[in-house]
Amino acid sequence: MIKIAIDGPSGAGKSTVAKALAARMGIVYVDTGALYRTVGYAAVTAGISTKDAAALEALLPSIEVDVRYENGVQCVYLNGENLGDKIRRPEISMAASDVSAVPAVRAFLLDTQRDIARRNSVVMDGRDIGTVILPDADVKIFMVASAEARAERRTRELAEKGMPANYEDVLREMKERDAQDSGRAIAPAIPAPDAVHLDNSGMTVEESVAAVIDIIEKKTGGKPI
Ligand code: DC
Repeated sequence: MIKIAIDGPSGAGKSTVAKALAARMGIVYVDTGALYRTVGYAAVTAGISTKDAAALEALLPSIEVDVRYENGVQCVYLNGENLGDKIRRPEISMAASDVSAVPAVRAFLLDTQRDIARRNSVVMDGRDIGTVILPDADVKIFMVASAEARAERRTRELAEKGMPANYEDVLREMKERDAQDSGRAIAPAIPAPDAVHLDNSGMTVEESVAAVIDIIEKKTGGKPI
């Protein structure tokens, strides 16, 4: 079993690289942001302010968040409904960031994440995987890229998903969300002391994957992947 933690700000290419890596290694990719997005979606749908910690805490007992793998793809279910790309909408990004600052929400999602990693070899991406969820991960990577490179990628991704957005809006929202995620009191998005930093601003996806493989091979004693 191997546990690989990839943390970093939004749009740094974590999910693209983690997905490619998991496929290559034949292990499970876990997108933990999808879980916070699901709670954010549940709050928005219920008409609850995503900044109201007490109301969010009261909502949690009535929701069930379930992760399933269908044809190798992670699907997140909210009370039995597969939410698909509904959780990718820009307003849900900010809602996810809001709810993720609430300790009760983080506690609610903790076991789901650890259970998957207990049962499988994983590449898990998020903000606190190396610091909180899997502090004993075999390899920890903190992936960053310039805000401009990240906003460009995010804008392209949204267009590909049929949700076109303006680059300037994406850049502004991304900066706001990252400041909130890295500045919060609980599980802030900061590198674990033993994380390897990777700045992939000028890299293609293939180059980022190769750089990550290099880091893993070095950490795990040079066995080729
Ligand atoms: O990775 P993402 O952009 O889909 O994540 C959405 C939000 O969820 C992000 O702004 C912060 C939160 N999040 C978190 O707090 N911890 C994680 N491990 C993953 C995501």
